[in-house]
Amino acid sequence: MQVLVTGGAGYIGSHTVLSLLTHNYDVVVYDNLSNSSVESIARVEKLTGKSVSFVEGDICDKAKLSDVFEQFNIDAVIHFAALKAVGESAQIPLSYYQNNVHGSVCLLEVMQQYNVHNFIFSSSATVYGEENDVPYVETMKLGTPSSPYGASKVMVERVLADFALSDTNFRGVSLRYFNPIGAHESGDIGEDPKGIPNNLLPYVAQVAVGKRDKLSIFGDDYPTADGSCERDYLHVMDLAQGHVAALDWLNSNNEFRGVEAFNLGTGNGVSVFAIVKAFEQAINNSIAFEVSPRRAGDLPAFWANATKANNELNWQASRSLEQMMSDTWRWQLNNPDGYQA
Ligand SMILES: NC(=O)c1ccc[n+]([C@@H]2O[C@H](COP(=O)([O-])OP(=O)(O)OC[C@H]3O[C@@H](n4cnc5c(N)ncnc54)[C@H](O)[C@@H]3O)[C@@H](O)[C@H]2O)c1
Repeated sequence: MQVLVTGGAGYIGSHTVLSLLTHNYDVVVYDNLSNSSVESIARVEKLTGKSVSFVEGDICDKAKLSDVFEQFNIDAVIHFAALKAVGESAQIPLSYYQNNVHGSVCLLEVMQQYNVHNFIFSSSATVYGEENDVPYVETMKLGTPSSPYGASKVMVERVLADFALSDTNFRGVSLRYFNPIGAHESGDIGEDPKGIPNNLLPYVAQVAVGKRDKLSIFGDDYPTADGSCERDYLHVMDLAQGHVAALDWLNSNNEFRGVEAFNLGTGNGVSVFAIVKAFEQAINNSIAFEVSPRRAGDLPAFWANATKANNELNWQASRSLEQMMSDTWRWQLNNPDGYQA
């Protein structure tokens, strides 16, 4: 079975490509490399001993996408390609809607043209917005996220719902990720943010290797046990395997039509202070940090109810917080400058 992976050179994409290859799926990666490097794919090939077809291109370029569907016999699409920085999305919202929403529509149009109906979408816990209580369950209504990035994910979920009503062959899965961290256990692939990291773990790791002076913890006066924000962190390899589980689920449910959402998280909230402590234990050293004012739009705490994915996809996040930390550290130590080294 041949799977087209848009954004497959990126952080979650590269780990998922590795999982797909080890489960004997053939993979075509389509990526414009706006936030990644082909080196990630080269390393995945080395780790698995299998080859990946790579096409450099933008999801908004329908002619180029069509070439890919002409050239390869695609059975399913996993769609990671998107811009993902919450703060940046408020500064350049049009780029986010263009890339994330318009790009997804282009992809669906080309898929429809080539009669490809199996689709897995990278959604996010952010679609629950501010209205819903924790833990988040898939039966809740989509909320109103505070950022254009979050809104773009809600919009694409809406597009998928409408599209599935109009095209009765469509078989879509929205995977709502919570907070992926960590790296492949080899330390050869991992998260390689360009510039200043937006996410907590890459930042902590860069402080640990001396690339940044100190970590800013945004707010210690939230109504949580220690005052810092709580998130549902899951190991990126567990998340990668969630995509294989979703693909297997589509393959074993031939009758399925429509769109189904699944939360992919551990079901536990972990605070920022607890993450820092766990990382300090993993590296046996301390991390310099300061407490800064809250960031606009940050919710105090959220985590998944992951029962649906546990039951229906037969998937569970199994890797420990300790492993998330040690794998991040191995990647950072082996690749202090990411893939550029
Ligand atoms: N990392 C997270 O915490 C998180 C959480 C929830 C959801 N997501 C979603 O998961 C997906 C993957 O995230 P990631 O963390 O791996 O990000 P990433 O930036 O590492 O990967 C995204 C990839 O898509 C590519 N890309 C972007 N726009 C493109 C376009 N127009 N055409 C072709 N390629 C394009 C980038 O070059 C990159 O390789 C995104 O859709 C993101 O919104 C991520």
